[in-house]
Amino acid sequence: MTNENSLVRSAVHAAAELIAESDALIITSGAGIGIDSGLPDFRGENGFWNAYPALGNLGINFTQIANPKAFQQHPELAWGFYGHRLQLYRDTVPHEGFQRLLKLAEQMPLGLRHFTSNVDGQFQKAGFKPEHATQCHGSIHMLQCMDQCGQEAWPADDFQPVVDVANCKLTSALPSCPVCGGLARPNILMFGDWDFEGHRYEQSESSLLTWVARASRPVVIEIGAGTAIPSARHFGEELNCPLIRINPSESQVGLHRDISIPLGAKEALVRITDALNLS
Ligand SMILES: NC(=O)c1ccc[n+]([C@@H]2O[C@H](COP(=O)([O-])OP(=O)(O)OC[C@H]3O[C@@H](n4cnc5c(N)ncnc54)[C@H](O)[C@@H]3O)[C@@H](O)[C@H]2O)c1
Ligand SMILES: [Zn+2]
Repeated sequence: MTNENSLVRSAVHAAAELIAESDALIITSGAGIGIDSGLPDFRGENGFWNAYPALGNLGINFTQIANPKAFQQHPELAWGFYGHRLQLYRDTVPHEGFQRLLKLAEQMPLGLRHFTSNVDGQFQKAGFKPEHATQCHGSIHMLQCMDQCGQEAWPADDFQPVVDVANCKLTSALPSCPVCGGLARPNILMFGDWDFEGHRYEQSESSLLTWVARASRPVVIEIGAGTAIPSARHFGEELNCPLIRINPSESQVGLHRDISIPLGAKEALVRITDALNLS
């Protein structure tokens, strides 16, 4: 066994021990948690353009399309991008790591809550209770009115986008607000976005904090959270309790009590739960 393998093995065991001693589990996550389910993250221009080559051909990057202005100026293109992502997330089967997290939650006296910067709804799809979720950047499965007519965000369930993937263009009807008939947009925090309707997500964050305050030995497992937009990283670190960081290439931790596991999400979660005989 190489030295590196034995370091990873001890980290997995240390994580299992820490979890076994804890009474509340907080999962924080970013785009990396979905990679083992086959979902893209958007690391750099190339990663994004590989996932959406039509936008690469037009020289449009993530920040330009994930932007309310794109919905005002090029609604078919913006909805081509988000409509494709909506269908992708609807069709994706969450990987086994999510089931392993549910197994860990069963062992916790206070159970589990999760905080994610992902908008993809994969935790809910895997069977996590919606009321235990905080989606700090919103959800692609909800829509909001572009004109802010007063209508609250509503589920996107009735919207079935048809997308010409080669040109990243929505070819079916644009979604509209049920009250004023104006254009609907995803209920997601975008770049340069002053109109994001985020109060439901702020409420779930404050009830998560109330729940954590009741725990005496909380533990955070951070999975696939990057450093470029570190919302999930910061939230977990600021809880000021032991943290297990799962990330194949950015797993360094700053504090002695924290544990770094340089593995992908699925492998790490399978190995931790196996170490606890929870498979
Ligand atoms: N699925 C989604 O909802 C989705 C997808 C892409 C981007 N976004 C948004 O874009 C922003 C990007 O920030 P981010 O930090 O979420 O993503 P990011 O792309 O910046 O970082 C992804 C992280 O995942 C790690 N990673 C790679 N493979 C992994 C694996 N198999 N298992 C675990 N981790 C792995 C990478 O090392 C990296 O640190 C966020 O605001 C996010 O909400 C969301
Ligand atoms: Zn409206």
